[in-house]
Amino acid sequence: MLRRLPPITDANVLVGTNTADDAGVYRLSDDLALVQTVDFFTPIVDDAYSFGAISAANALSDIYAMGGRPLTALNLVAFPAQQLPLDLLSDILRGGADKAHEAGVTIIGGHSIDDPEPKYGLAVTGLIHPHRIITNAGGRLGDVLILTKPLGIGIITTGIKRERVDEATIARATALMTRLNRAASEAMIAVGVDACTDVTGYGLLGHLREMVAGSGVGARVVAERVPVLPEAWPLAADKVIPGGTAATRRFLEESESVAWAESLSEEMRTVLCDAQTSGGLLIAVPNEKTDRLLEELRRAGVPDATAIGELTEPGHPPIRVV
Ligand code: CO
Ligand code: CO
Ligand code: CO
Repeated sequence: MLRRLPPITDANVLVGTNTADDAGVYRLSDDLALVQTVDFFTPIVDDAYSFGAISAANALSDIYAMGGRPLTALNLVAFPAQQLPLDLLSDILRGGADKAHEAGVTIIGGHSIDDPEPKYGLAVTGLIHPHRIITNAGGRLGDVLILTKPLGIGIITTGIKRERVDEATIARATALMTRLNRAASEAMIAVGVDACTDVTGYGLLGHLREMVAGSGVGARVVAERVPVLPEAWPLAADKVIPGGTAATRRFLEESESVAWAESLSEEMRTVLCDAQTSGGLLIAVPNEKTDRLLEELRRAGVPDATAIGELTEPGHPPIRVV
């Protein structure tokens, strides 16, 4: 879709629409740039407050993935004011505002429309040094891949919609989705990394594909090292799978973007493509800095961070899963 827009010619646009990156970056001066992103979606959990918090954490994540510091945000709201109680809307907005506050971000406005299907999200503006932008295109041969949250969120939220998930699992998935990627971002900035993206709608392998394409490298992922919410396995086995997850897997296979080791189960192949909401960061870090980054992440309270593979010579297919 973005390909149909006129090309960007402003030299102050440091990151635009042509690299499939998380957020746009606009240079204001030699040492200051704006980083901007927007995200909104329909409810993925029944609790209105949690939905607001998840949506805000998800929108902020694109700023953290670039190594930026979010400052302000605008609410984007669609709500059927005649059909649903306004208390629900105020709970959604409160969830978003509390999460923004936790991030040190002030919501300074917004816009709402009447819509039969509720939707909520944020447009976020942050700051970044123009020389310290962490894109998804800076990965280098030999970099180690670190993932900071477990996979399986899309499968579990689909299980919630189909009433296949117990309260404890809902609480666990909600806690994961409302967790900011701030601490992970600050840890990677402190250590210095080559590339980063957050894992959202295209799943781990879909976003990894964008990283290897942008960076001109290949990747090797060790499936058994990838952290996964255990509750996702039985659901995946029962084909409780989001449409987007199945579509990403089909796309990656048909475009010959991924080579699977024969021993990998159907469920594993699906989970590695699972569409995440407010997923973790996927970081490419120079090999010699890996231990330091994992240490920093643990100290910062990112307990799930795991090394899951590395960047390799470019190859065909570009991603190998063993
Ligand atoms: Co993103
Ligand atoms: Co986004
Ligand atoms: Co308006």
